Amino acid sequence: MPLTAAQRSNFFSLTAWAYPLWRARSLTLLAGEPFGLAREARLFLGLCRPAAGERWLDVGTSTGFYAGVLARAGCRVVAADLSPVMLHAAARREPRPQIEWVQANLESTDWRPARFDGVVVGATLNETADPWRLLRSGERLLRPGGQLWLMFVPRTGGPLQGLLSRLGGLTFPDLSAVEAALPGCTLVHARRAGQVQFARFVRGGGSASAGRL
Ligand SMILES: C[S@@+](CC[C@H](N)C(=O)[O-])C[C@H]1O[C@@H](n2cnc3c(N)ncnc32)[C@H](O)[C@@H]1O
Repeated sequence: MPLTAAQRSNFFSLTAWAYPLWRARSLTLLAGEPFGLAREARLFLGLCRPAAGERWLDVGTSTGFYAGVLARAGCRVVAADLSPVMLHAAARREPRPQIEWVQANLESTDWRPARFDGVVVGATLNETADPWRLLRSGERLLRPGGQLWLMFVPRTGGPLQGLLSRLGGLTFPDLSAVEAALPGCTLVHARRAGQVQFARFVRGGGSASAGRL
């Protein structure tokens, strides 16, 4: 499947240089309230509780935000991205031996299934060419009982999202469609902050809770 314009934009050094500046502010802009990286990390750590020694996959790591959070929690991380320049920038920002930087398209890998305790997808769902393939791939790589953490911008139906979809190939999925695309997982937490959706799934069973931040 051809890459979207948004995916291709990540192959430029300028994008890799500017991305951390945008990333540090993006959730505050999208949520409409102070939502820095430290708050995002606290939310993720508080709900997912990644344990030292666990093996996690960061899908579309960009400049390594989630990979760094996981490595500091003592996890071993495969941080994957399509873009070599993003991976290069990430490895410089997060020079940690627990992180393995891998260039791969996570919509389709021949990696052994059920090999991760956790999979995190921070906004890559919006950007990838086929988010449903990406979700199926993430589910396949997760062991039974493992966790899938998603952060994405869901559909609002607004004109800006329409423009970004047409020009950049972005997708803005509904949480219900995401849930339907993960038949082997249970949604256990859903949190919405303005235009940002967080969701935690567990492969197999789990008990659900949902609410606003
Ligand atoms: C919006 S950024 C993700 C940000 C990052 N997860 C974070 O939380 O800061 C999307 C990243 O995913 C990568 N990407 C997009 N589609 C991908 C795919 N199918 N497989 C692997 N990486 C992908 C892009 O190259 C880009 O670096």
